[in-house]
Amino acid sequence: MDKIIIEGGHPLHGEINVSGAKNAALPLIAATLLCPGEHTLYNVPDLRDIRTMLVLLETLGITYHYPEPHTLVINSDNVEGFEASYDLVKTMRASVLVLGPLLVRLGRARVSLPGGCAIGARPINFHMQGLQKLGAKIELESGYVDAFVKGRLQGDTIYFDFPSVTGTENMLMAATLAQGKTIIKNAAKEPEVGNLIDMLVAMGAKIEGRGTDVLVVEGVDGLRATATTIIADRIETGTYIAAVGTAGGELTLRNCNPAHLPSFLEKMRAVGIYIEEKESSIIAARSGPIKSVDVKTMPYPGFPTDLQAQIMALMTCTTGLSVIDETIFENRFMHVAELRRMGADIRVDGGRAIVSGTGTLTGAQVMATDLRASASLVVAGVAAQGVTTISRVYHLDRGYERLDEKLRRVGAKIWREKE
Ligand code: UD1
Repeated sequence: MDKIIIEGGHPLHGEINVSGAKNAALPLIAATLLCPGEHTLYNVPDLRDIRTMLVLLETLGITYHYPEPHTLVINSDNVEGFEASYDLVKTMRASVLVLGPLLVRLGRARVSLPGGCAIGARPINFHMQGLQKLGAKIELESGYVDAFVKGRLQGDTIYFDFPSVTGTENMLMAATLAQGKTIIKNAAKEPEVGNLIDMLVAMGAKIEGRGTDVLVVEGVDGLRATATTIIADRIETGTYIAAVGTAGGELTLRNCNPAHLPSFLEKMRAVGIYIEEKESSIIAARSGPIKSVDVKTMPYPGFPTDLQAQIMALMTCTTGLSVIDETIFENRFMHVAELRRMGADIRVDGGRAIVSGTGTLTGAQVMATDLRASASLVVAGVAAQGVTTISRVYHLDRGYERLDEKLRRVGAKIWREKE
């Protein structure tokens, strides 16, 4: 197992190419199960979660190859398997995205319940209730969701108590081939959902309301394979901006979409980081002191929960008080204990963290506990005095493509060693 070592205190200067979004690539890969054919996906990030998804789809019968780096071609002519096993779902919760497509393709899907994870209970009741509303028969047995449908699903109105991202994606995929009209109310508006809609529409689906919280899907009789480009990873983009915020310097982030980070970029400006938005790049620079801000995570276009840990690391480097409210996941403060090891002063009270900025952090041995928590330790480490050693970096490799290499190229002293 690898560990990452960072010698902090070196400002970042240069350009970073942002990769394709993990959270867009995963549902788009799942969507290739919907119909036979050769599906092409461009700008696919090279990540552990993507490899896990492809292992899952291989067990269902797909084949795939990369004609060139980041271009993925999936052949889904022979999908016969209908089960996502506990072993796969427990390593990656997004495996649940095969539920909708398998159900409409085969009339049957069996997907392990995800169980608890580091950031909370994360149930899938919305996915199950939505599919039931469309006529699926669902049984829970031995830790598995067993879903059946005879013939086609029937369109209906689905209301989500909360705009679940993968829940919306599962419903969209299932509804494209249902009979009649499905209306998804309180749908998630995340850009990754928009990317999936673009793919489904290119495949022949009829979907209206893209970017809004009411999606109307008119079921069609069949879909065809197509080619789609994965959008840029807004969370990776935000992570590098947070890093230039702690370490100082100036970064140009290429191949990203500033329009997908409205609340985050606004916060960065309030912190005192210079942000220049171009069509497909962002310049982010810090030259002087930074200020504390309060943050509340919200569904898109609010402040993303996937950047909460990184902004917390940034807030520890101010000299002010910051209140961070986590409203999406109940237990997403795993990084707090590790940041404290680096000298941060953070108090947690339920879903609220109160950060008293200490101005500087000191390097320490810390442990990655989940994907975004690990990213926050890197954001802290590039600025900390001395050496930070982050163990269990496989969490980082789930969602960041060559993060250490990208940071090294812009001046960070960061490298990997075997543990
Ligand atoms: C997705 C993202 C994840 C991000 C999250 C919130 C992917 C692959 N992952 O996760 O990176 O942190 O959105 O932006 O896109 N909930 C229920 N019942 C359900 C589904 C969700 O109660 O059936 C709750 C969850 O516990 C959580 C909230 O709804 O409190 C939001 O979860 P959701 O949007 O579904 O997150 P994911 O789609 O799993």
